[in-house]
Amino acid sequence: MLKRVAESGAGAVTTKSFSINERKGYENPTVIELIENEQRIGLLNAIGLANPGFEKFKKELEKFKSHNSDTALIVSIFGTIDEFSKLAGMTENYADAIEIDVSCPHVDDSISKNPKILKNLISEIKDIISNPLIVKISPNVTDIKEIAKAAIDGGCDALAAINTVRAMKIDINFAKPVLANKFGGYSGTGIKPIAVAKIYEIYSMMKKENLDVPLIGIGGVTCGNDAIEMLMAGASAVGIGSAVYYRGIDVFGKILNEMNEFMNEHNYKNIEEIKGIAVE
Ligand SMILES: Cc1cc2nc3c(=O)[nH]c(=O)nc-3n(C[C@H](O)[C@H](O)[C@H](O)COP(=O)(O)O)c2cc1C
Repeated sequence: MLKRVAESGAGAVTTKSFSINERKGYENPTVIELIENEQRIGLLNAIGLANPGFEKFKKELEKFKSHNSDTALIVSIFGTIDEFSKLAGMTENYADAIEIDVSCPHVDDSISKNPKILKNLISEIKDIISNPLIVKISPNVTDIKEIAKAAIDGGCDALAAINTVRAMKIDINFAKPVLANKFGGYSGTGIKPIAVAKIYEIYSMMKKENLDVPLIGIGGVTCGNDAIEMLMAGASAVGIGSAVYYRGIDVFGKILNEMNEFMNEHNYKNIEEIKGIAVE
């Protein structure tokens, strides 16, 4: 899948998050499409971070690298506070950048809700690895600026925002939540305004505080205009997940073409000209 994403035109690929040891994840149903008033508004998932563990995942990373040396490989990891540094060290040689997923809303996102713990964790990991460190943060907090600032103070090289929004769907015929885990993470079209607002808030905070860390804007990006919107809010790059479900695995090339069309029409020459222009 990563190879196909790379071939479709993505500048970098991010793996599914994995842990040191295998995790089974939750019972089915784990992913559903949300359709409200006949509108397709996104996906709701509670997979429970199912993964085969580092040793097996490592083989996939090696395989990808042997086929795609040009596409940057961002390896996403998660664990407890004690496991993160260890796993980052184990992963270092297989990744162009390491992303720490501290923000999955249906497992444990407590690290991304505590600025002090997050800052310490990041500086601990930075002491161990030499790769760039990306921190994926949660929208499910009172003040995302405070969390972003703590991550930057800890020494992260980039911030990825947002992870999914904690949400629920109840089947009124059965009078029960649909997902086996009850709560899930909401992604896709419906969360784009939330993601744009979070990127905007973080970027304004950085401008005010004279900080300069690239933001990867993620959440509901489905077409070229969505990606441009995210860049105008202050993102340096854009991440795409759920749009693969709506537009297929070659969505990356499609979005690139749509972005180029917009830029040509409006005489923008490069991304730098667009980045943050909507932010006062
Ligand atoms: C089925 C599914 C699985 C996901 N798994 C992960 C994961 O393992 N690690 C992670 O950091 N984010 C995970 N996410 C969150 C996405 O990376 C992204 O932050 C979120 O879906 C918003 O972007 P989108 O609207 O483009 O999908 C997952 C999302 C979905 C829909």
